[in-house]
Amino acid sequence: MTRPTLTTSAGAPISDNQNSVTAGPRGPLLIQDYQLLEKLAHQNRERIPERTVHAKGWGAYGTLKITGDISKYTKAKVLQPGTETPLLLRFSTVAGELGAADAERDVRGFAIKFYTSEGNWDLVGNNTPVFFIRDPYKFPDFIHTQKRHPKTNLRSTTAMWDFWSLSPESLHQVTTLFSDRGLPTDVRHINGYGSHTFSLISADNKRYWVKFHFKTQQGHKHWTNEEAVEVVGKSRETTQADLFEAIERGEFPKWTMQVQIMPEEDADKHWYNPFDLTKVWPHGDYPPIDVGVLELNRNPENYFAEVEQAAFAPKNVVPGIGFSPDKMLQARIFSYADAHRYRIGTHYEHLPVNAPKCPVHHYHKDGAMNFFGQQTGNVDAYYEPNSFNGAVQDERFAEPPLKISGDADRYSHRDGNDDYRQPRALFELFDAGQRQRLFNNLAEAMFGIPDFIAERQLAHFTLVHPEYGAGVRAALDKMTADKAVETAQQQSLAGQAAE
Ligand code: NDP
Ligand code: HEM
Repeated sequence: MTRPTLTTSAGAPISDNQNSVTAGPRGPLLIQDYQLLEKLAHQNRERIPERTVHAKGWGAYGTLKITGDISKYTKAKVLQPGTETPLLLRFSTVAGELGAADAERDVRGFAIKFYTSEGNWDLVGNNTPVFFIRDPYKFPDFIHTQKRHPKTNLRSTTAMWDFWSLSPESLHQVTTLFSDRGLPTDVRHINGYGSHTFSLISADNKRYWVKFHFKTQQGHKHWTNEEAVEVVGKSRETTQADLFEAIERGEFPKWTMQVQIMPEEDADKHWYNPFDLTKVWPHGDYPPIDVGVLELNRNPENYFAEVEQAAFAPKNVVPGIGFSPDKMLQARIFSYADAHRYRIGTHYEHLPVNAPKCPVHHYHKDGAMNFFGQQTGNVDAYYEPNSFNGAVQDERFAEPPLKISGDADRYSHRDGNDDYRQPRALFELFDAGQRQRLFNNLAEAMFGIPDFIAERQLAHFTLVHPEYGAGVRAALDKMTADKAVETAQQQSLAGQAAE
């Protein structure tokens, strides 16, 4: 088989890729050896900044097939019966850096880019239906507690529990995170949740509120903390291997897509605010409706180009799907594209993995690495309005007005909010074994933090359920007693060795 000739990046053939150009066999180097300089310079630029959160991830392509009929609620073409849409799904952990081990207790990201015929729809969710905070003002603070201490450069359980115990809205997500589902064996065996409330807009321009869910058809599988220690000792890449190899074997993982739909006028009807990201909509109030099947069936050819450079942004919605007043969602509409312009570059949306698979027309101009020229439809139309047949707005896509009211102020998001009722409903779902593992996982994570922080957190658990508080306290007491016995044994052994 003839092999292609190696060339410079400008296309000229290269005669020697083994030996640098030197003055005599012993050197020194000549600066005219541009191939050597270019190789070194390129290597220096092989990394882009890792995502500030969700840095470690695993991705695959697939399709969404719509098998149900929710056409009376939405005109979105991607959600019409029979439609098949290609997609990219990137899973991730949240706190770990790019090289973190996969089998860690952490929330899993579940970010989907649907390449719809009406533009990209990005649903950037998690494997949990709720989140730790409900006001985006606190997001950087919360993430600081998950990352490294500025001096020790270690992750700090004191910081985590200090913040969580001062933020009772975190209880629902904390309970989920330290339950069995907080340490999944891989990402084929997790659910995905859009988490926020979004809008669906019908053909007659009526708004409905919606939650999106993706239920694993593989079932749930998790590791205990002890099992995960063993697993990480043997491989740090278990999720990458599991997903990649399953798809190579032709075992394509599938999820059932479901929606919960709330009439617009119901939003004020409940004890919970339906736009509060720390709350679910109980299934009893809004039963899940099956919409379709999401399948992953193709591995990326190049991880860096197609997964590391993938850019998911909640701002990306399509006609028939819209936002809601959820404060967290509103902030995320800004934050992601800003991160992408910094992390990847101004024209990140033109990279093949991010580019829509439908015609694109806009008036953005020039900028670094602009390889696509003008996208307005006509060379003389580089501003708008113009008289030269450039792309124009289409009022058929206007959303119905969003009803909002109230004086602008900084309203306390804790006033009148019950942060205990839904964590209680979750706790009550757990059987005795699940509860005991929850207590143990929490005790392990809280062990060694200052007492006043532990007491503040235990008081919250007790408000969720007396058995919850008592269970974590007992597990902590047992750990303290076990530790004391262990220390006494070590001291006694050390004493014997010294005699
Ligand atoms: P339901 O009994 O109707 O629904 C329970 C939901 O909880 C199901 O979606 C189920 O997901 C999920 N679930 C079951 N066991 C666990 C577990 N061990 N860890 C995490 N999730 C689990 O009750 P409600 O709708 O009234 O909700 C009760 C509680 O369930 C909520 O407070 C919330 O904590 C949790 N939940 C609710 C969801 C919702 O959208 N209503 C979604 C997910 C969790 P699955 O079918 O995959 O087993
Ligand atoms: C990644 C911000 C809340 C899910 C990110 C990134 C930022 C960010 C800046 C990195 C993006 C990149 O570099 O490509 C925020 C802010 C939040 C918030 C400001 C709250 C105000 C949430 C919530 C969820 C979520 C509530 C889930 C429901 C994700 C996921 C990723 C991510 C899945 C990884 C996306 C990928 O795979 O590339 N977030 N986030 N985030 N976030 Fe958030």
